[in-house]
Amino acid sequence: MCDNCKKPYYITTPIYYPSGNMHIGHTYTTVAADAMTRFKKMTGYDAYFLTGTDEHGQKIEQKAAEAGVTPKEYVDKIVANTKDLWKLMNIEYDDFIRTTDERHEKIVQKIFRQFYEQGDIYKASYEGQYCTPCESFWTASQLVEKDGVKVCPDCGRPTELVTEESYFFRMSKYQDWLIEYIESHPDFIQPASRANEMINNFLKPGLQDLCVSRTSFKWGVPVDFDPKHVVYVWIDALSNYITALGYGTENDQLMQKYWPANVHLVGKEIVRFHTIYWPIMLHALGLPLPKQVFAHGWLLFGNDKMSKSKGNVQYAQPIVARYGCDALRYYLLREMPFGADGNYTNEAFLTRMNADLANDLGNLVSRTVAMIEKYFDGVIPAWTDAVDETVDKPLHEHCAALPQLVEAQMDKLQYSQALAEIWKVIGECNKYIDLTQPWVLGKDPEKKERLANVLHTLAECVRYVAVLIYPFMPTTPERIFQQLGVQDDSLKTWESLDQYGKLPQGTKVQKGEALFPRIDIKKELEELNPQPKEEKKPEKKEQKAEKKQEKKEKKVEIPEGCIAFQDFEKIQLRVAKVCACERVEKSEKLLKFDLDLGTEHRTVLSGIAKWHNPEELIGKNLVLLANLAPRKIMGIESQGMLLSAVKVNEDGTETLRLLTADAMMPAGAEIG
Ligand code: MSP
Repeated sequence: MCDNCKKPYYITTPIYYPSGNMHIGHTYTTVAADAMTRFKKMTGYDAYFLTGTDEHGQKIEQKAAEAGVTPKEYVDKIVANTKDLWKLMNIEYDDFIRTTDERHEKIVQKIFRQFYEQGDIYKASYEGQYCTPCESFWTASQLVEKDGVKVCPDCGRPTELVTEESYFFRMSKYQDWLIEYIESHPDFIQPASRANEMINNFLKPGLQDLCVSRTSFKWGVPVDFDPKHVVYVWIDALSNYITALGYGTENDQLMQKYWPANVHLVGKEIVRFHTIYWPIMLHALGLPLPKQVFAHGWLLFGNDKMSKSKGNVQYAQPIVARYGCDALRYYLLREMPFGADGNYTNEAFLTRMNADLANDLGNLVSRTVAMIEKYFDGVIPAWTDAVDETVDKPLHEHCAALPQLVEAQMDKLQYSQALAEIWKVIGECNKYIDLTQPWVLGKDPEKKERLANVLHTLAECVRYVAVLIYPFMPTTPERIFQQLGVQDDSLKTWESLDQYGKLPQGTKVQKGEALFPRIDIKKELEELNPQPKEEKKPEKKEQKAEKKQEKKEKKVEIPEGCIAFQDFEKIQLRVAKVCACERVEKSEKLLKFDLDLGTEHRTVLSGIAKWHNPEELIGKNLVLLANLAPRKIMGIESQGMLLSAVKVNEDGTETLRLLTADAMMPAGAEIG
């Protein structure tokens, strides 16, 4: 297809703060964007993929000062490391924007001025709680309490009260327009639960005007008509998606071609900026909105969000050095549904690598090639057109349907499901080998034709798999094609999958190294997480005293009606985000919930249908007693109990409301 006839597809990642090196959380989003770009390019789109770095702000200024270098020198180093990492991860972006690029800074100034001249921005004095590590202002009601101190709801660290003259964006002016827009464009915010969250938690309660300039630091884009101020983070950061396309310049062909973006991929913590402030800014500029903002979940470390500022991070480099970039890309895209949180652990990674890559895929390829070598001197035999209706036909049909099954999932950004579809065919092929028993056929010369069909089928299915895994694992297909002996590039394309059976006979296979050698998980874990040998240190005086005190406390008698602290500690309360909620058929009382606990989903029944409508609960953060033994109610297993407050009315009836947790808390957060 000619390049101009192709449909444009524009995808972006957030631009990351180069305050430290990127970890696998950032790698996750970038790999997802890369896989989608490759998929779109493969399926005939003119895809354009933008990533970059968000380089201004007080935190970078501080980090650079600590390191004794200028902010620019500081970020240059991290940006170079970031680009190396993306190369290592096989990430092929079309452009990398830095907010310190001149092309960006100039247009940010222009945009800021336009907002001011239009009356969208005004100057006033600002007082607010500011979290320096997160570069965020919070209202008093957004802060959370920790050990008696009000702290940042994102990172849990103390904030400081800051008063400053600032410019403000009149967000409130656009509130009703935005509510109507979100409600009439159900695909705009995905997953849909995030749209409810934005409407109910931010838009309906009333939008506050946004502080868009600062005077307390210098490392930013100066406001050109009032240079004491620098443009404060979100106008600077969000504009990258259009400044990279040449918006506001004479050279704006890319803007004409690719805007509006098809999708902005973002982590769920910045969905608010992308679905409230960014749409309002674009609307004020008279530009159309991106077609979709997709908020993916977090890679957790233990139960905590990995983050540079908390120091609990896993980097991609050591994993890639040991197991290759495709294995890590596969894990990131396969392990958790896009949109949900998931844990990164070396054990889960290694287990998946053995099961899916070494066993399922690796074995299928090596068995297929080895059998073609053994029974047909390494030459892929001809297909002789006698289809076995019960064994061959279902596999051929499934394989032929696979491209569309994968595409349907990719259209919804369900990477994990797309891979699951491919692995279903891999599983079916491995079963096909067990059913057809080529080693038995090989003993009987009269069964040679049947054996030829079996091996041709396997080789063709392997070719389909190799073509389809390319967006996710870009280097593995070529290794498979080499083993299959496929040299003709036209057999490696999406178009070549339009009809099952294109693999020609006569291709010479070539046994190679195992694609993904099986690993000894226990040994690898020891290598990856060496356990320091515990030395028994002499106990310090204070520790001894503490223990004594603890013992004393244990002996304290428990008054009637109270429970012991140790018993209270057994109770696990967690924040549970409602993903879905519906009435249980034939029950007047029961509602059935699908709850997101960050690392898992739970089904929970609750007898509260009289007091709550299911629709009002979707997107809410509820309080779940998470370690209550499961029990079956009306044939459905309920895995926990939602807590509620009950009021007894004057007439003796009860009114009940579910307890909610602060909307800023992530799904699964522990309560205690
Ligand atoms: N600079 C802003 C974004 C501006 S976009 C106009 C920013 N930068 S960041 O360095 O903090 O990167 C945040 C993004 O990195 C998340 O939204 C997500 O895409 C990715 N991730 C960082 N840590 C992550 C996890 N632990 N898990 C999943 N993604 C994570 O916010």
